[in-house]
Amino acid sequence: MCGIVGYSGPQNAIIPVLEGLTRLEYRGYDSAGVSYLVNNEIQIIKKEGKIDNLKAEIKNKNPFSHTAIGHTRWATHGAVNELNAHPHTNETFSIVHNGIIENASEIKEDLQKEGFKFKSDTDSEVFLVLLTKYFLQTKSVKDSISLAMKLIRGNSAFVMMMKDSTSLYAVKRGAPLVAGNNPAKKEIYLSSDPYALIGFAENIYFPEDEVICELNRTDKDIEVKFFELSGQKSERYKAQAKKMSLDVANKGEHEHFMLKEIYEQPGLIKNLYEYYLNQEGRQLLTKITKYKPDFIHIIGCGTAWHAGLVIKNFFEEQNKVRVNVELASEFRYRNPILKKNDIGIFISQSGETADTLASCDLCIEEKVTALSIVNVEGSTLYRNCAENFLIKAGLEIGVASTKAFTMQVLTGYLMSLSMAGKLEAKKVQKEFDLLADNIKQVLSRTTEIKAIADAVYNKKGFIFTGRGIYFPIALEGALKLKEIAYVHAEGYAAGELKHGPIALIDQHMVNISIVGPELHEKALSNTEEVKSRRGLIIGIGDEKDKKLKGVSDYYFGMNLEGLDHLRPVLVNISMQLFAYYVAKLKGTDIDKPRNLAKSVTVE
Ligand code: M6R
Repeated sequence: MCGIVGYSGPQNAIIPVLEGLTRLEYRGYDSAGVSYLVNNEIQIIKKEGKIDNLKAEIKNKNPFSHTAIGHTRWATHGAVNELNAHPHTNETFSIVHNGIIENASEIKEDLQKEGFKFKSDTDSEVFLVLLTKYFLQTKSVKDSISLAMKLIRGNSAFVMMMKDSTSLYAVKRGAPLVAGNNPAKKEIYLSSDPYALIGFAENIYFPEDEVICELNRTDKDIEVKFFELSGQKSERYKAQAKKMSLDVANKGEHEHFMLKEIYEQPGLIKNLYEYYLNQEGRQLLTKITKYKPDFIHIIGCGTAWHAGLVIKNFFEEQNKVRVNVELASEFRYRNPILKKNDIGIFISQSGETADTLASCDLCIEEKVTALSIVNVEGSTLYRNCAENFLIKAGLEIGVASTKAFTMQVLTGYLMSLSMAGKLEAKKVQKEFDLLADNIKQVLSRTTEIKAIADAVYNKKGFIFTGRGIYFPIALEGALKLKEIAYVHAEGYAAGELKHGPIALIDQHMVNISIVGPELHEKALSNTEEVKSRRGLIIGIGDEKDKKLKGVSDYYFGMNLEGLDHLRPVLVNISMQLFAYYVAKLKGTDIDKPRNLAKSVTVE
């Protein structure tokens, strides 16, 4: 969840490190810091809060160095303050860490008994102290890394530098890490994300777990070397020389990335069918026809899980196959029944979500075919799965996932149609075009959504309800609202209201009632029940639905005709906008909501 960048080369190392950290800031923004070598000694600058605070301090101090490492933090152990910010440094080493050392407190206790001192409350510093202890004994950085790695538990990635050296070191277990170089410029790089290195590194290397990366640099030469923890040379890494393009991250005419990403959706939908209906995409989709699973496990977290709940309906209906949708954090620990003829579909925007990756590993161990619905090409999930169905959403910067949800659902729809042998190019194109046009219409009606948001944003709580295919949209609508507007919101299956949550309803509560043509009468009567208890109703449904409009205090109707399976996607766009405008009225940090990070690489 934290962002890591390391550099050694002829230019001022602070520049690429800061640029990389800025690109990764959406992954964690509690605090940030850099350490760098001056006259062979380690210097450090750390700041609490967003990276702009660090930048201001750097501007002030104007450091110059050829070797530096940097970090943006999403706190796991220890409060958010400068002391706990990374890098963690002593007279010999400086380290940055992404992940969790699960047995940190036991190790710390032992080290303290041995006389080692700690400056912070972080688990990360335990690794620094271990490294130092072993270095005193072995005089070898690689051996010290290896000994420390053997002792710690949990998923982590570390990048390290040391005094008197222009080398950088790194190692990881179950957390993302890449190495890079630019041979012409004699530069070496390390990062938690290749995105930070695009435009800098010519070659990117993806080491596997427990492979030590040693990157050396002199004025004449650079080398990138990999070792096993045993000290042997390692071949367990992949190299990618292919140029990666940088999806330029700017907000365009929009005030926030989230809004920009919401507006990108109609264009992306067209790109998606163009990709999947052309030769390369078509071939990929055809591959799914070779699977005749008895059972499909769809796994993801957060918004990706909600997308899975929508996709389940497609597979069940079109393929008559049993499907279970599971939260990755639960699936991985509950000994699920996995059979050889099952398939696992792992949904993830980032492809780096720790729980999703662990669930995928579990399936692979049990010989279950792992397929991904993923946005980031080259991510860990992408590399681990047998086939990858890219959602082609482009870079998603807003921590609240919007366009990824839409594209995940549509990709799942195409996979399901293809597996069922029902993929008709012309029909899909027509459906997707209609969806894109109707989304555009919704996007042109923000004044109405703003007015609704304005009327209700100060209410006590928000209950989103829906039945059937709209239930996941109720969950997603509530998630979006709580994460960016910091208000209490819950998603419920409308039929569940009277099993408990209806007790919450009074004139201070808002019910966002999603009622499509499916199960219309049932969902409408649930809305009436809320109305009778003085709940404020925001009706979301078909533009021609007079009954729902009649029962609603505020109504947002859309043209759902002809959309059939894709109606939930359209409805969800109005939920995205509603959350956005409530958050704006609340004055929150929409793109970087408090306590969250874009990519959850710790469990
Ligand atoms: O990168 P992933 O799709 O695996 O991420 C999963 C969730 O962490 C993510 O969807 C999260 O719930 C978003 N903040 C929701 O907006």
